[in-house]
Amino acid sequence: MKINRIIIGLSIVLTATYCGVKKSGLETPEYFPVPHYNFDNNPISKAKTRLGSNLFYDPLLSANNTISCASCHSPYAGFAHTDHDLSHGIYDSIGTRNAPPLFNLAWQDRFMWDGAIDNLDAQALAPISHATEMGSSINEVVAKLKEHKKYPGLFQEIYKDSLITGRAGIKSIGTISALANI
Ligand code: HEC
Repeated sequence: MKINRIIIGLSIVLTATYCGVKKSGLETPEYFPVPHYNFDNNPISKAKTRLGSNLFYDPLLSANNTISCASCHSPYAGFAHTDHDLSHGIYDSIGTRNAPPLFNLAWQDRFMWDGAIDNLDAQALAPISHATEMGSSINEVVAKLKEHKKYPGLFQEIYKDSLITGRAGIKSIGTISALANI
């Protein structure tokens, strides 16, 4: 009788854990460590990774539509850069550091060479508004996305609302950064 109860209890716990993993949308081999990034706060879906990836490769995120995240984080170089020492941003400006690779970031808890940022979703705001990177602002980006022929539909698919907000856009970029190279 007691053993039965224990077995039922264990099954409930295991089912709950399994559903938790399912809810986050992340499927990894059993032997993987638990990711630091909280996917329950930003569940993965095909539509969201499509939006995040569109944004990652879109120069619209920069003030004059010339620089995308991928300009510095090139997929051909492990999402880093290989041919110069300091990153090259908008208006041919040279930064003070080079772009690190984006690699298994869901398991990383500090970002930037000096660990200055600890929130991967908020991280995307830094390059968008950095004067020598993309030189724009989240409000400017949101205004452009609202006028775009593709983005309102992509946001609608995920958030069931075509209203584009900076927070939603940043979270989809967060998903893509977290999943880089997985
Ligand atoms: C002009 C080049 C440039 C652009 C454009 C750029 N980055 Fe970066 N990125 C960098 C540099 C340089 C660093 C390191 C900065 C530091 O350490 O202070 C960095 C750091 C990062 C990190 C931290 C990685 C780690 O392991 O610590 C992430 C994540 C990241 N960028 C994502 C993005 C995303 C998303 C975008 C687009 C919204 C973007 N970057 C646009 C140059 C760039």
